[in-house]
Amino acid sequence: MSNERTADELKHAEDVREMFSRISPKYDFLNHFLSGNIDKRWRKLVTKKLENVLENKNALVLDVACGTGDLALELQKNAQAKIIGTDFCRPMLAIAKEKNAVENLAIPYLEADGMNLSFADETFDAVTIAFGLRNFSNWQDGLRELHRVLKVGGKLVILEFSAPIVPGFRQLFQFYFTKILPKIGGVVSGSRGAYEYLSESVARFPDQKGLLKMMLETGFSDVEYKNLTGGIAAIHLGVRQ
Ligand SMILES: C[S@@+](CC[C@H](N)C(=O)[O-])C[C@H]1O[C@@H](n2cnc3c(N)ncnc32)[C@H](O)[C@@H]1O
Repeated sequence: MSNERTADELKHAEDVREMFSRISPKYDFLNHFLSGNIDKRWRKLVTKKLENVLENKNALVLDVACGTGDLALELQKNAQAKIIGTDFCRPMLAIAKEKNAVENLAIPYLEADGMNLSFADETFDAVTIAFGLRNFSNWQDGLRELHRVLKVGGKLVILEFSAPIVPGFRQLFQFYFTKILPKIGGVVSGSRGAYEYLSESVARFPDQKGLLKMMLETGFSDVEYKNLTGGIAAIHLGVRQ
C-alpha cells in the first residue's frame, strides 16, 4: 500500500499535531472535567473487551494515538501482556511518560504517525485507538494501517465519539457539545478553536453503522459495536482476517 499523503492530508495532520501540542498541559483536566469523568469508565470498558488478550503474557498490544497515555495505562494495569503507546505529538507523549513514573510502570512510548507505523506486518495481538481515528487525515487509510500491523486473528478496538441514539437527549447533548463545551474548553486551555474542532470533527465522523461498514470494507471480520452513555461514544471491535 502506498503511504503517500495528499497536500491537504499533510496540512491536516500538521494542524492536528500543533493543536494537541497547544492544549496538552490542560488536556487531561479538561477530558475528565468536561465529561464528568465518564471518559475513565469508557476506557475501562475497552480493557474489558480485551481481557483474553491482556491476560496472555506473550501478547503485544499497541495503543495508537495514545496521547497522554490514559488508555495505555488502564490496559497495562490490567495486563500480563506488553503494552506499547504511540502518538505523533511529542508534548502529549511527554505527559504519558511522566505518568509511567507516578504509576511505577515502564510502558514504552514511541513518537510515530499512526497512518505510517514503522512496525512490521502482523506484529500485534491487539491494537487500540481512543479518540484518535477521528483526527486522522484519512480514516480508511488509517484503518488499513492498523489492520496491517495486527496479526491474523488480532483484535482492533476503537473508542470514539459517536451519534447519541436517544431523541431529546441527542439535542441536549448537541447543545452542550457545540455551545457550552467550546466556551469552557476555550477559557481553560486558551484554545477555543481546539474545542470547536472537537465538535466539528465528531459531526464529520461516521456514526456507529458508518464506522462498522468502514471496518468491514477494510477487511475486519466479526465487527460489532457497543453504545456508551446513550451513544455519545461507542466501542467498535473487529478481528483481522
Ligand atoms: C483526543 S486525543 C486522544 C488521546 C488518548 N488516546 C486518550 O484517550 O485520551 C487524540 C490524539 O491523537 C493523536 N493523533 C492524531 N492523529 C494522529 C496520527 N496521524 N498519528 C498519531 N497520533 C495522532 C494526537 O496527537 C492526540 O494525542
